[in-house]
Amino acid sequence: MSSAPDAGAATPYGTLPPASPPSERKPLSLPRLADMHARGEKITMLTAYDATFAAMADHAGVECLLVGDSLGMVCQGLPSTVGVTLETMRYHTESVYRGLRRVQGTAWLIADLPFGSYQESREQALRSATVLMQAGAHMVKLEGGGWTTDTVRFLVERGIPVCAHLGLTPQTVHALGGYRVQGRGDEAATLLKDQAHALQDAGAAMLVLEMVPASLAAELTAALEQCATIGIGAGRGTAGQVLVLHDMLGMNLGRMPKFVRNFMAGAPSIAEAFQAYVRAVKDGSFPDDRLHAW
Ligand code: KIV
Repeated sequence: MSSAPDAGAATPYGTLPPASPPSERKPLSLPRLADMHARGEKITMLTAYDATFAAMADHAGVECLLVGDSLGMVCQGLPSTVGVTLETMRYHTESVYRGLRRVQGTAWLIADLPFGSYQESREQALRSATVLMQAGAHMVKLEGGGWTTDTVRFLVERGIPVCAHLGLTPQTVHALGGYRVQGRGDEAATLLKDQAHALQDAGAAMLVLEMVPASLAAELTAALEQCATIGIGAGRGTAGQVLVLHDMLGMNLGRMPKFVRNFMAGAPSIAEAFQAYVRAVKDGSFPDDRLHAW
């Protein structure tokens, strides 16, 4: 890792916010996140793909940063996340990690295992997860239920914290037939609940629930005591919320998904948009189930 200038030092390419003294900041960790879940304190998460945004989001108090493979769409201009490679994920994870280090950031750093980097075998998943952990991730995320349970257990047993992802799983968008709400109807809801419980039992400490009915997400959140649910289009009843950075800053080239709020609207700066997001998730005013959920 190359040496970095002092936190907050002006640079020709933008000034990072000054870090608050390390003594005032406590790094996020699995026990701290579990404690927040147990106490019902909402967990805030945003995607981050580069050093500056990572440092700014951390500074605003965002607790978890996800280097999502959504970067394929918002940074690389790909039509879906399917084309994102492990090398690209490593590059962006390192960038985010450096941004956090530079401001002595405390955020919990999660990196997506991209399509094709874990489906072949548990061993392939371990090799891919190792690349991302060595780039600075604290946890890896992988999509799907059922067959992934065994992989999650394999990684967790080897000391790699895992975030699972159910509901709309964008890497399988072609199999799902589009970006549609998942878990609707008794059969689909039962399958999703069974998969979520199996993932918790396998050791997944977090579970992203994407585009699932709010009632189902709330029911799962109450039932999964050892696994904090993080919702995106899953209503206000989850343990935490995540949004794609570009979406919540109103930077979307297509149609804004229903579950997004543009936090730049009315905010005088990006830093204040991040703060507004943190406040709204913490006080439960975002998401609003009448506007952002199914
Ligand atoms: O890739 C991503 O950004 C994600 C979030 C939408 C949860 O998986």
